[in-house]
Amino acid sequence: MNKKSFIKAIIIAGIVVILATALIIGTLFLLKNRNTKEVITYKYNEEARKVMQELNIYDKLNNLEYSKTIEVMLENKNYKEKYLNEYQKINYQEISDFSNIINTLLEKNYHSEEINYIINNFNNDLSIILNMNYIDILQFKDIKNFDLKKIERYLEYQNKNTYDIKTVVTYVNIGLDLKGYSKYVEYTNEDANTDLAILVNKYHKLPDDYEPNDLTNLSYKNGNYIYKLRKPAADAFEKLSSAALLENVIFYPYSTYRSFKTQTGLYNGYKNRDGEELADTYSARPGFSEHQLGLAVDIRSNTLTSTLTQKDYKWMLDNSYKYGFIVRYPKGKQHITQFKEEPWHLRYLGVDLATKVHDSNLTYDEYYDLYVEKK
Ligand code: DAL
Ligand code: ZN
Repeated sequence: MNKKSFIKAIIIAGIVVILATALIIGTLFLLKNRNTKEVITYKYNEEARKVMQELNIYDKLNNLEYSKTIEVMLENKNYKEKYLNEYQKINYQEISDFSNIINTLLEKNYHSEEINYIINNFNNDLSIILNMNYIDILQFKDIKNFDLKKIERYLEYQNKNTYDIKTVVTYVNIGLDLKGYSKYVEYTNEDANTDLAILVNKYHKLPDDYEPNDLTNLSYKNGNYIYKLRKPAADAFEKLSSAALLENVIFYPYSTYRSFKTQTGLYNGYKNRDGEELADTYSARPGFSEHQLGLAVDIRSNTLTSTLTQKDYKWMLDNSYKYGFIVRYPKGKQHITQFKEEPWHLRYLGVDLATKVHDSNLTYDEYYDLYVEKK
């Protein structure tokens, strides 16, 4: 090849390389542009895009990450520019009237984290929050027994007391913000017969005619007087007595099952003697006594008194749960149980539940609200 044709070949090759490079760059450029255009075109649906154009925010929104919430706000003509930052952080939820709800909450000054919590958790009760002024809702976030339907009661109780919010929720759930007996759940005979974990207190009442269907005599008798408890409680009581005896703790049943009628006579007697207010601190009104359940037993350390010695009381606090009983009205808990300390009053719950209640250090009223599955 002579020099001339060599140069020619080099030039041709050079041109080919340049053309090819230009072609590749050109193609890439076109492809890239086409992609961008496609994304821009389809980021928001047509309805939303129309509104974006109208509001002159088409480019602005397109330069931000796509948000289903923003799209729905736009589509429903509820988009408000001042809430853009919050919209971006709110997770879309499939609830009717989503866009109006979001704006209403934002207008009440809820921020996105609160709104996400609200729409995630209270889907069915949103009207409660929508009808109230702003509340610090996130303070209830980790409280498992929080019930939105009681929100106003929690807030009122919180205002009047210095309890932490967990305590406020539990106490209000028990009913302690209301006077005992003013509002209560009424059980059926079936509830009482089938549920050994049933809670009876000033907020839970038994039917007047409830009588347990498995009352069983205890082995101990006082002269001719026969003591009765429901079968599982009676069996457990014998075990408790024998186990205690091995540790030199001796006690006797003093009062066990009491019919509605017996409780009526007792309570009225106390009321006539001491007045209603005082009687209510130590005697349950008829229908509200665990004794009517046949699952409560009062014990005494000797037949000449009506109470337990400190030593026996201590033994019960530490051991009775192993046989299925808890000390139901312990010292220092009157503000919860609504009854003065009663060292002698044991409630049968079964070994499993009694152990859990004992270990929790809670009264049964609290434990029931927090952990017992309601039937
Ligand atoms: N003394 C207990 C509270 C009762 O009357 O059941
Ligand atoms: Zn009792």
